[in-house]
Amino acid sequence: MCGIVGYIGEEQAAPFLLGGLQKLEYRGYDSAGVAVYNGTGLHVVKSKGRLSVLDGILQGGRALPGVVGIGHTRWATHGAPSDVNSHPQVSDGGMFAVVHNGIIENYLQLKNHLLRRGVEFVSDTDTEVVAQMLEYYYKGDVLEAIGQVTDRVEGSYALGIICADCPEKVFAVRKDSPLIVGLGHGENFIASDIPAILSKTRDICRLRDREIAVLEKDTARFFNADREPIEKEPERVQWDISAAEKGGFEHFMMKEICEQPEALRKTISPRIRDGRIVLDDVELTAEQVRRISKVFIVACGTSYHVGVVAKYAFEKLLRVPMEVDVASEFRYRDPILDEDTLVIIISQSGETADTLAALREAKKRGARVLSIVNVVGSTIASESDDVLYTWAGPEIAVASTKAYSTQLAVIYLVALYMAQELGHTPPAEMAAYIEDLQRLPDLASASLADKETIQYFASKYFNAKDIYFIGRNVDYAASLEASLKLKEISYIHSEAYTGGELKHGPISLLEDGTLVVAACTYGRLFDKMMSNVREVKARGAVVLGITTRDREESLKQETDYQFCIPKITDFMLPSLSIIPLQLFAYYVASMKGCDIDKPRNLAKSVTVE
Ligand code: G6P
Repeated sequence: MCGIVGYIGEEQAAPFLLGGLQKLEYRGYDSAGVAVYNGTGLHVVKSKGRLSVLDGILQGGRALPGVVGIGHTRWATHGAPSDVNSHPQVSDGGMFAVVHNGIIENYLQLKNHLLRRGVEFVSDTDTEVVAQMLEYYYKGDVLEAIGQVTDRVEGSYALGIICADCPEKVFAVRKDSPLIVGLGHGENFIASDIPAILSKTRDICRLRDREIAVLEKDTARFFNADREPIEKEPERVQWDISAAEKGGFEHFMMKEICEQPEALRKTISPRIRDGRIVLDDVELTAEQVRRISKVFIVACGTSYHVGVVAKYAFEKLLRVPMEVDVASEFRYRDPILDEDTLVIIISQSGETADTLAALREAKKRGARVLSIVNVVGSTIASESDDVLYTWAGPEIAVASTKAYSTQLAVIYLVALYMAQELGHTPPAEMAAYIEDLQRLPDLASASLADKETIQYFASKYFNAKDIYFIGRNVDYAASLEASLKLKEISYIHSEAYTGGELKHGPISLLEDGTLVVAACTYGRLFDKMMSNVREVKARGAVVLGITTRDREESLKQETDYQFCIPKITDFMLPSLSIIPLQLFAYYVASMKGCDIDKPRNLAKSVTVE
């Protein structure tokens, strides 16, 4: 939820920290701060507001000299965004400065303990408790003090720490929140995510739960929770820094929308060989597939919407019961699972707190967990029995687009793989599905070709107060995602309904001129959708219809505006229909002047419950 970065080396820390924070701003952006050891002590500068405010105060970093430091960009959980609640948080005696991503769940109890011992607190944050505890337990050995603190705190944390007594070191520790260590030459780094340090190094180590890193400019040492030294194998980041930059686009979101064909290609093509689905990374034999009696899909947000599409694909291909659940519900609802249950966890970041908890719950109950993840080596990936990566590359815009598309592609791959292993689907039908999956990247390109139609439509309706999305079957699934996209970035009230549910309530909300987007790509229920379109038009709605090219003429007779996508296997339709709907959300938000890549109150990665 927050972004942290740290530097130790021979160059000035503050300019690097500001640059790194800029790459992490997608994780939180309501305040920012840095702490630098400036030769005499810890010097902290922090401010409410966007990073640009801090950047101005620090004159790009020049105003805060020093070669050791930590930085933070915040998404508030404990205490409103304010200067004093911003990180770094500093201990009472000024010995420790701490940046934190996560939530210390027992912070009140710990705070009261310290208050009774005369420690004075200045902020409302849970993080300050960590800074104060570090000083309280510090008896000349920072590693030991960190261990004392992590022995006592409950919750999730990635912590970057500097200590006035050890000006030549940066410390880091994590549990359930991501943290990497970057290894340079004569300099070392910590960060919540790779883009923050990619300008400096491609060699990274991922900290596992409760592991501690002690960085000096020439060394990086690692310790386990018992403070015993451990070895860590560095890994090399393969993707290029340009993948995490805008590359001429005004916003990351548009760049990522346009990257979808390529991301689909990378995700799909290595997994189809000689007309067969090959999932190298997954151990799922025909015998194991046969034993699966139930499948759960568990995820949050956009990833959850992938699950809604998946249900149609799995039930069609496999005739196996499937439940799709949001992770925050699943983890607390006592789900019925056993060793014959397959739980598919979907997560772009691989770090979402509720999704991770759901994964652990599923494993505790004996289910097998297959995860679909974008961030390589993330916690969800490392804790799953099997992982299938989406090769979408870094997704920076808070509103997810290419992750959604590639997650869908992996879902089709898994469903088709299982169908292939079961052998119930006639070979010609299987071949047709696989062929369509291979065509998907090109068809996605075709759906992207006509941006102007959507832009024009958005220009007419960007002032709408409410927008409704309707659809049936897979079109309903796509409508859920379209509605989420629109509300996330444009702040327009929007809802998605199945065509059949309209009469049971939402139709009462329609007035003259209300905009309804009707997704009507699913051929079998096209006529039913046309009845729904007539119903909403009779109540004064203006309707944008989306369908496949073969039905364009019929759609024209019923709707005010039309957008057509290529025809493809039914359960793959959302992969194409979502593209104009993503574009619609984008253009509406852009015309309203919204901050598209960093919408208010949201964060890319929700690592707190
Ligand atoms: C946040 C993001 C969404 C994302 C959801 C789940 O809400 O803003 O875009 O879909 O988290 O994230 P995950 O990384 O688990 O897919």
